[in-house]
This record gives sequence, structure tokens and C-alpha cells, in this order.
Amino acid sequence: MPDLPAWLAALPLIGAGLWAWRRWHYPSFWLIAAFPLVALSVRASWRRVALGCGLTKKRQRWWFTTVPGLIASTGIVRVRRRFQRVAVDTKPLMWLPRPTRHGWRVTLHTLEGQTPGDYTDAAERLAHSWSVHAIRVSSPGPGRVVLSATMRDPLVTVNQLPPSTDLLKVTVGRLETGRPWMIDFRTVPHWLNAGATQSGKSNLANALIVGLAPQPVALVGIDLKGGVEFTPYAPRLSALATCREEAGRLLDDLVALMLDRMGVCRQAAARNIWQLPPALRPVPVVVLVDELAELYLMADKSEKDEIARTSTALLRVAQLGRAFGIYLFCCGQRIGSDLGPGVTALRAQCSGRICHRVNDPETATMTLDDLDPAALASARAIPAETPGVAIVASQDGQWYRARSFHVTEHTAEQATHTHAHLTPSWNEITTHLPEHAHA
Ligand SMILES: Nc1ncnc2c1ncn2[C@@H]1O[C@H](COP(=O)(O)OP(=O)(O)OP(=O)(O)O)[C@@H](O)[C@H]1O
Ligand SMILES: [Mg+2]
Repeated sequence: MPDLPAWLAALPLIGAGLWAWRRWHYPSFWLIAAFPLVALSVRASWRRVALGCGLTKKRQRWWFTTVPGLIASTGIVRVRRRFQRVAVDTKPLMWLPRPTRHGWRVTLHTLEGQTPGDYTDAAERLAHSWSVHAIRVSSPGPGRVVLSATMRDPLVTVNQLPPSTDLLKVTVGRLETGRPWMIDFRTVPHWLNAGATQSGKSNLANALIVGLAPQPVALVGIDLKGGVEFTPYAPRLSALATCREEAGRLLDDLVALMLDRMGVCRQAAARNIWQLPPALRPVPVVVLVDELAELYLMADKSEKDEIARTSTALLRVAQLGRAFGIYLFCCGQRIGSDLGPGVTALRAQCSGRICHRVNDPETATMTLDDLDPAALASARAIPAETPGVAIVASQDGQWYRARSFHVTEHTAEQATHTHAHLTPSWNEITTHLPEHAHA
């Protein structure tokens, strides 16, 4: 047998090396070996892809063309080259693609008459053309759009990040972009967390509890699933309501607490508790509500007044709580307007929105409001196999696909036991309220 050329013999070795490199250190493999090839192919294919996805425009250009000339006596048509104006397809100008952690990003200049929405509509077609997991479109300024491609779904496995050390700020998961997913109550005070059953709502609440447990904050639970979710976390909860009646009393206490803090701030000429001197500043309270819909469901007319009272108290907390250090995190399977006007008003106060997998398009629309239709489509496309994946919208008007870290009940329970000594008692918090009592 003739000797194989040395380079051919080395091929399997090179292949194995590349495989091992990709397997053990994907970030450097992506940056050095894969990205340059991908960038070249994206640039090279841009004209075809733009044409296929309907992103080109016809423009008049001077061009050399061949036109039929005279018919010669032999019957052969003579063609002549002519310099004339013809309509050609122009593609949007593309800058050089730049690598990102999970893919690449490229800036484009829109053509006349185009809006970023045209690119959003074409995002799925672009993703298929380039064989990438997803393309997200954003617009950094007029006339420019940025396409961000993710090669593979980065949310299939999400590993833990170091916890945040800032007060009321918790790293609960990871965004599709690879950045941490933060819930920061001081920036966005109230949150709605919706999703079908088994979509990961309670897991997210667990992540929050684990993150907040070591911080100097009071945690309050309203668990309308009869307390089955939050009772194990009681050591770190300053108060826990497990039915509507208890929730009503607890919310009344919270409203009284808020009014009291309002008085303290007024006396000290402070606009919110953060402007108070540290010695006077009361402890922030985070209220976690599970199964929100239960607060509003009416079995018969006799419950009407009770529901109205509870819902008004919750709404007052949402409206005024921010300045006085009372924050809401409401979880529920449904938060539609069919539950009553109280829910609609509450939704308007909650600027933080999290939509896990949903069964019906209405829930996604209700949770995310009239956010980008692509966000709604993305929420509806969350597969059941990836619980914890959600669409997150907050005050910056942007939306992100994200996944929470997996935090088991056991981990959360352990955290609540470890930090039980940091729990301010409800009596301590509400002690100087005029008619404090119950919860
Ligand atoms: N981020 C995640 N990563 C991996 N597994 C997760 C994640 N989030 C949730 N899960 C798993 O999915 C299952 C359902 O999660 P969870 O109990 O949070 O759902 P839920 O929306 O609260 O459901 P329900 O409405 O029935 O209370 C759990 O077994 C949990 O372990
Ligand atoms: Mg749950």
C-alpha cells in the first residue's frame, strides 16, 4: 500500500483536536476558529439572503447592458453593449459582523422606506437562511438596525452566576444574550410573573427568596395555594397569609405600614425612604404573591365586598409602595381582565413583566401588553421541555428571552433556615402602627 501523504494522515488528528477544543473551551474555539468563517459566509451571502427575505429595493443605476441590435443578413441577432440606466436590486449596507458570546452581531443601514419592523418581520426567514437559532432585531438609532444572531439556544443549560451583592437586586438567571438576568426592585418595584402550570413560576420565586434571604429585607408571603408553596420558607418570612381572609388582613397591615412610612418621610422632608437618614430608614418589604387569581375569584356574591377590599388594598400598595420600600412580586397562571377591574389596574402598576410558557395567546398578551408582536410569538413558542424559560420585559422597553436558574424547594428551604436570624418579626415592623394586629 502506498504511503498516505503526511497531511492526510494528520487529518483525523486535527479533527479530534478541533472537536476537543470545541468541547472543552467553546468560547475561544468560537472566537478564533469558527467566527471568522461564519462572518465571511454571512458577508458573502448577504445579497442572496437580503433578496430572498425581501429586504432589497429596486434602484436606478447606470449599468452596462447588452441590447439586441440589428438582425444581420445571416439572421443572427447582433447584441450591443450599452451604458444605460437600469433597475437593480440594492441590498442594505452591512458592516462587518462582530462576535458575541453566543453568536454574532452586525449593523445594517436601512434603505429608504424601510423600518426596523421590516427586519423584525423577516427575522425568522433570516435565521433560517443563515442556519442560526434566532435573529433578534434592535435599532440603535434612526436609519440603523442591528441583527443579533444566536447560533444555538443558550438557554438549554443555564449555569449559576455569582450572586449579586446589591440591596434588593437578585441575579435570578441568564438572558439569551449571555448576560445575567437581574431583578432589581429599586429600579422596577413591582413585577407580574405569569405562566401555565409547571412553567417555572415558583422556581423563579425560589430564586428570589434565595437571593433576598441574606439581605437586610423583610419577606412577606401571600400564598393562595393554601400555603403549600411558601410555608416551608416560614423561618425567613416576616408574615405569611395562606387564604384570602389572611391576605386581606396582611394587606391592610401593609397599607397602614405604608401610610406610617409616608408620615415619617413627610416629617423628614424626604420623598422616599431612601432619602431618609440611615438611622431612620425602615426595612424594605418584598411581598411575594403566589396564585394571584385566587384573590379575585368569586364563588358567590357574598364574597364581593371582601374581594373588593383586598383588591383595593393590593392596588394601593402597588401605587404607593415604591417610595416607601414595599415591593410586589405577583405570580399567577392567569392575570386577564376577566378577573375584574382590580387586576387591570394592578397590571398597569407593575412595570416588570415576566411571561413563562403560556397555554393561550391571551395570557401572553395580557402579561406583556402591546409589546413587540415578536415577543408575544416568542412567549407562545416556549417549549414545555424548558421550564424556567420566560420572556422578560421591564422599564427600558426592551424584551429578552431568559431562563431562571434551577432552584429546588430544598435549596430555598435551606437558605431560609440559614438566614432565619435575619428575619425581622412582623410585630417589630408594624409595632407603632395605630391599629396593627393580626397577620
Ligand atoms: N429554570 C429551570 N431549570 C430547570 N428546571 C426548572 C426550572 N424552572 C422550573 N423547573 C422545573 O419545572 C417544574 C415546574 O416548576 P414550577 O413548580 O416552578 O412551576 P409553576 O409554574 O410554579 O407551576 P404551578 O403553576 O403548578 O405552581 C419543577 O419540577 C422545576 O423543578
Ligand atoms: Mg407554582
